[in-house]
Amino acid sequence: IGQERLAKNDELVKCVGIGASELEKLASFAEDQKIDLTVVGPDDPLGLGIVDLFQARGLRVWGPNKQAARFEASKAFSQDFMERHGIPTAKAGTFSTPDDARAFAATMDGRCVIKADGLALGKGVLMCENQAEANAAVDQIMVDQAFGSAGANVVIQEYLEGIEVSLHALCDGTTCKLFPTSQDHKRALDGDQGLNTGGMGTYSPAPFLSEAELLDVGAKVVDPWLKGCQAEGIDYRGIIYPGVMLTQSGPKVLEFNARFGDPETQVYLMRLKSDLVELFSACVDGTLAKETLEWSSQSAVCVVMASGGYPESYEKGKAISGLDEANAMTGVTVFHAGTKLSGEEVVTNGGRVLGVTAPGDDLASAMAAAYAAAEKIRFEGAHLRRDIGAKAF
Ligand code: AMP
Ligand code: GLY
Repeated sequence: IGQERLAKNDELVKCVGIGASELEKLASFAEDQKIDLTVVGPDDPLGLGIVDLFQARGLRVWGPNKQAARFEASKAFSQDFMERHGIPTAKAGTFSTPDDARAFAATMDGRCVIKADGLALGKGVLMCENQAEANAAVDQIMVDQAFGSAGANVVIQEYLEGIEVSLHALCDGTTCKLFPTSQDHKRALDGDQGLNTGGMGTYSPAPFLSEAELLDVGAKVVDPWLKGCQAEGIDYRGIIYPGVMLTQSGPKVLEFNARFGDPETQVYLMRLKSDLVELFSACVDGTLAKETLEWSSQSAVCVVMASGGYPESYEKGKAISGLDEANAMTGVTVFHAGTKLSGEEVVTNGGRVLGVTAPGDDLASAMAAAYAAAEKIRFEGAHLRRDIGAKAF
């Protein structure tokens, strides 16, 4: 649910009960409501071609079309594309049989990362330390088909060491505009322990890249990516989000996402001073070259409050208190992720429940503000990491 209000009439923003993959219904809704611009958030509808469908029905829509969304919908496509266009990435191979996959993993002594080719709710990536783990991962994805048809092919990458950063760039087909850096925290527990999650918190900027170094990484990653798209006739309009490992031998792309990162977006929105709708429009119209992205010099931190047990099983429907108090703190925005209204009450309704986000003049004060706001919010079993941003020091 949202607690945001509409600018035009101050009414509460409504959540409509149409699923993200119900493309025809979404298009009919946009038609009925005379929506000026639809902004597509999640990967599934992009992969299914929601942008193509809206365009065919004459509706204005922001996001990559089906062909362009393959960068996220198929890891094999992305890996091959990177190799074709000289984009630095991990040593890798793509395999369609378990025997070939196990044999390739063995060339790395089993120390590798095995990824289902297709979309798997962010869960299709298995990090392996040895051959036994690699064999088990191949069995899980290809034999037991834990991720269904998404695992018919796998990409196996060498296991990279380094600092992971998130890059984002808006794109209008011919121009890219790079965002400042941010860093996600993928593991569930402090000190990067525990299971991989969708992301437990972010901060921006990340100090591991100076402005000049960021431009250099952009030149190594985003520029050849855009040239490659143009050479292959891929009309990419939307946001491209490469996950990058800063290794001792330079930046290497782990994967591409064809959408905004969650919870990277929460910290970006705190810092973005330009009008987001104008930027989206410029992507759709192909006029991004004329736009400037202005960012606040402040830092921002987002602390995710998750349900107890996440990313494994968890209960829903826990009453949440303290939202108004937290939101009333200077600069703080509490973004809703897994919540719903039950009568008058806001209750938990997902794994990652809230993104408690705050700006600050420096990273330390943004961290203090985000954690002070999170302190105000209570629900049974709430889990958060206590070290979001700590790596920067
Ligand atoms: P992906 O969805 O492909 O970005 O993978 C999810 C997470 O797994 C990444 O954010 C990294 O933390 C980790 N990861 C993916 N690929 C590699 C790799 N080749 N080496 C080390 N870690 C990786
Ligand atoms: N921040 C992780 C993701 O959005 O995939």
